[in-house]
Amino acid sequence: MSDFPHLFSPLSLGRLTLANRVTMAPLFLGYARPTGEVSPLILKHYREMGASGAGLVVAENAAVAPEGLGSPFTLRVDGRQYLAGLKQLAQAIKDGGAAASLQLNHAGRFAWQEEPLAPSAVPAGNKTPRALTQEEIARIVQAFAAGAALVKEAGFDAVELHGGTGYLLAQFLSPRTNRRDDAYGGALENRLRFPLEVIAAVRQAVGADFPVGYRYLADEWLPQGWSLAEAKQAAPRLAAAGLAYLSVMGGTYESFFIPERQAQEKHQGYMAGLAAAIRQEVPIPVIAAGRIQQPAYAESLIQEGQADLVGLARVLLADPQWPRKAREGRAAEIRPCEPACSLCTKSVMKGQAALCTQWSEEKRQQTRDAAQAAQAN
Ligand SMILES: Cc1cc2nc3c(=O)[nH]c(=O)nc-3n(C[C@H](O)[C@H](O)[C@H](O)COP(=O)(O)O)c2cc1C
Repeated sequence: MSDFPHLFSPLSLGRLTLANRVTMAPLFLGYARPTGEVSPLILKHYREMGASGAGLVVAENAAVAPEGLGSPFTLRVDGRQYLAGLKQLAQAIKDGGAAASLQLNHAGRFAWQEEPLAPSAVPAGNKTPRALTQEEIARIVQAFAAGAALVKEAGFDAVELHGGTGYLLAQFLSPRTNRRDDAYGGALENRLRFPLEVIAAVRQAVGADFPVGYRYLADEWLPQGWSLAEAKQAAPRLAAAGLAYLSVMGGTYESFFIPERQAQEKHQGYMAGLAAAIRQEVPIPVIAAGRIQQPAYAESLIQEGQADLVGLARVLLADPQWPRKAREGRAAEIRPCEPACSLCTKSVMKGQAALCTQWSEEKRQQTRDAAQAAQAN
């Protein structure tokens, strides 16, 4: 009998049964090749994540269109040339026993572009995006569908849509970044149109029984922004469109670095309250993430009905054996993610491959070397 019986009980997402309630939440690490292809370092990393003992590994965001790349060294799914590498990625995760998923994204106004595309021309940093035409919106909807079909063909068990971090799906929902006066802007019903069209197109592309998850921004944490009140209203609409789960998060690039938020994110379970609030509104499973360091805390979230699953991102990077140690009664041996550190975040913000201070110097050096090789071609 596990010390954490709720955490280590199975959960079905349609026809996919997860062995337990521990998932890897997507964590972009800058390990892909500059072409967006899978690199040996990506495979090594995800092989380790797949063998962590987590029931589901959701690999980091991959771009559905060239103008939607979040940064250099982002994975891509916008062409069949990526298929062979994606097959290897799915297999690397599954070899370790986890179910494999890949997150699909369009970065919109945060894209790594001179003139990004967005719902409206609302400046982001020192760039002002261009508002999408309706033809371009239709093309991006189809790009999500084509990307999802490729993910399925590559052998992944599920696909996740990135509606978090203030990327394009979230930009359409937010009244702060969506100032459109056509059918895609204005009332919540209209701001929901793009995400609902994406879900419908993806559903059609992958078929009824393939799980489609959604990373859900529950609060932008910005004045006049997307708020928990609207997120609670919208969640049942998204769920009813055919989602397998909602993976709840808070914040965007415009709020992550506000001092108050930076202080908050050092605390265990800092986004769990958002997950619990959304869970009350939907009939589908909800994932809670945000410095879930201790298995006993993860167990309490599930036992108390605040979430159905937990998502570990930096926490699993710091100790890729977290789920295994928890299951085997070795929770005290878990190496926690250091709240004062942020080395992984700082590295990727500088366009460098992520490293972790909790790793041995040998692993850090191996990762630096492999990243240099990946980024050179
Ligand atoms: C460096 C970095 C990269 C991230 N990349 C993604 C991503 O690709 N997709 C996503 O939905 N969330 C991403 N996140 C958010 C994480 O999934 C997670 O919600 C957050 O880091 C809190 O969990 P943690 O404390 O276990 O890291 C990223 C976070 C960090 C720090």
